Amino acid sequence: MIDQTLLPHEHVTLAFDDYREVARAIKEMRVRGAPAIGATAAFAMALAAQHSPARTTEHLLADLREAAEVLIATRPTAVNLAWAVRRVLRRAEAARDLAPDAIRALVLAEAQRIADEDVAINKRMGAHGARLIRDGDTILTHCNAGALATVDYGTTLGVIRAAHEAGKRIHVLVDETRPFLQGARLTAWELMQEGIPMTLITDNMAGHFMSRGRVNIVLVGADRVAANGDVANKIGTYSLAVLAKENGIPFYPVVPTSTIDLEIAAGDDIPIEERDPREVTHIRGVPIAPSGVHVANPAFDVTPHRYVTGIITEEGIVYPPFGLGLRQVKEKAESYGA
Ligand code: MRU
Repeated sequence: MIDQTLLPHEHVTLAFDDYREVARAIKEMRVRGAPAIGATAAFAMALAAQHSPARTTEHLLADLREAAEVLIATRPTAVNLAWAVRRVLRRAEAARDLAPDAIRALVLAEAQRIADEDVAINKRMGAHGARLIRDGDTILTHCNAGALATVDYGTTLGVIRAAHEAGKRIHVLVDETRPFLQGARLTAWELMQEGIPMTLITDNMAGHFMSRGRVNIVLVGADRVAANGDVANKIGTYSLAVLAKENGIPFYPVVPTSTIDLEIAAGDDIPIEERDPREVTHIRGVPIAPSGVHVANPAFDVTPHRYVTGIITEEGIVYPPFGLGLRQVKEKAESYGA
């Protein structure tokens, strides 16, 4: 994996052969973004299978269950992580009649399938979403929902890439995304590599640009979408959605169906990860607040569905009322056998 904590100034690739090290890398956000941590955790399950000393299937499945627990505990909000780990585990458990080595091979194949599907899903979301983008539009985005946050291509940046590839002249306003600066460090880097015109702004400038008529559409990623259409995404997304509504600007999350959690009825029940206060008090090791200050650092917030214009998925765009539409796209995606 690329170490995303070092981008954009250093491009370092990390390799792991122990699933526990992968779990630590996910927790430290060396890899981040809901679909990316899902695929990474799936490969971590493959490592757990390869390195398990189990000689019996029962023992191997027990080792896999233990690895699944460790991986799922790393980051609680993005449901893609638990979704991918459980999918791999289900595949292994369904093959319990086979010998351990056959199960090891199946687990690796399933992880690879999750990764390959993710790229194809992003391209399909890109094609659906790009239809909403008009020539000349300015798109405001938050955090990084790009190739780095997925296996490749990106969800939100996938839509932006697809519109750009279709020859539309677009401009992207990129929120820096305090405190971890995914927008400034990662989204700006990705867009500049692609030659997509962009302007970096601090998070508190978004309302100003919206009120001056400088934003045509807001596109964001998501870490979990509840059955009623409430959307958990990077902290600051809720404020953008409220501002967008106030200014009559459409607000669309771009979401693979693996991010939709029909088990959660509404956003209030989505667990919100609280992270290390140092992410707020320090920037790259440099203190910016008095030492000992009391800090809150919720990594995500929930946007109630009334602020959401539509949800772009690989199976099409879902519009309100979201309940039925989200169920339909989820069932359609699952009918392919995932
Ligand atoms: O804490 P992060 O950087 O993992 O949060 C990422 C986001 O909030 C993204 O918007 C979301 O995961 C979607 S990525 C395609």
